[in-house]
Amino acid sequence: MYMRILRFDELDSTNAYAKRNCSLLADQTVIRARRQTAGRGRLDRKWISQEGGLYFSLLLKPQLTDFLPNLTQLMALCVCRTLRQLGAEACLKWPNDVLVQRQKICGILSEAIFTKNNFEGLVLGVGLNLTQTDLASVGQPATSLALLGIQPDEETLLQDILKQFFDNYTVVLQNGFKVIQADYVRLFPYIGQTVHIQNGTQDVTAAVQTISPEGKLVLKTPEGFIEISIGDMMV
Ligand code: BTN
Repeated sequence: MYMRILRFDELDSTNAYAKRNCSLLADQTVIRARRQTAGRGRLDRKWISQEGGLYFSLLLKPQLTDFLPNLTQLMALCVCRTLRQLGAEACLKWPNDVLVQRQKICGILSEAIFTKNNFEGLVLGVGLNLTQTDLASVGQPATSLALLGIQPDEETLLQDILKQFFDNYTVVLQNGFKVIQADYVRLFPYIGQTVHIQNGTQDVTAAVQTISPEGKLVLKTPEGFIEISIGDMMV
């Protein structure tokens, strides 16, 4: 049983709460809220957070910081595996979305906290659609466990995700993505498919070759292979 969970009916954003209170919170604290009034997604997007979703943030204060982005990918892998154990055909969309039937069911926003250039912590914020049935307003194809006919016990689901994560946390912290690469790639159905990436510095349409041992998206272009570290994969 994972004990360090702070529970709220409503917060602006569990990530924002973790960041505001970082210095007061212990390493590995989980913050969960039933609703968020200002839920945030990646790339400055909103994350609509009405009741019915599992919204939580995990605050980590590791000593080793070489592989922080890979912890986000580990969390995506753990959510994906947990959903599969419940019978959902979940898969991964690089870098850290979880999809079922090509519809998004979970997104992860990771944020590093610095004070005066010192690393204070990493917040991994997870938004997982559980019982929502009207997801038309989210702006992209989305689904929920309820829409898939799955109604898990929420507390067990949260505990299962956290257990999976902490079972692998130290090894990823020390060795990086390469230790989960094979599992990640197995659940990543886009190899060979043409995708589009636009991230401010790169605007590429090319076939996916693989995910590198560092967790980067490797694309095959006429000029050779290129590795993408940041961005959204559009298919
Ligand atoms: C994304 O796919 O864009 C990431 C979405 C992350 C949403 C979660 S919900 C809990 C945590 N608090 C937030 O404000 N965002 C993350």
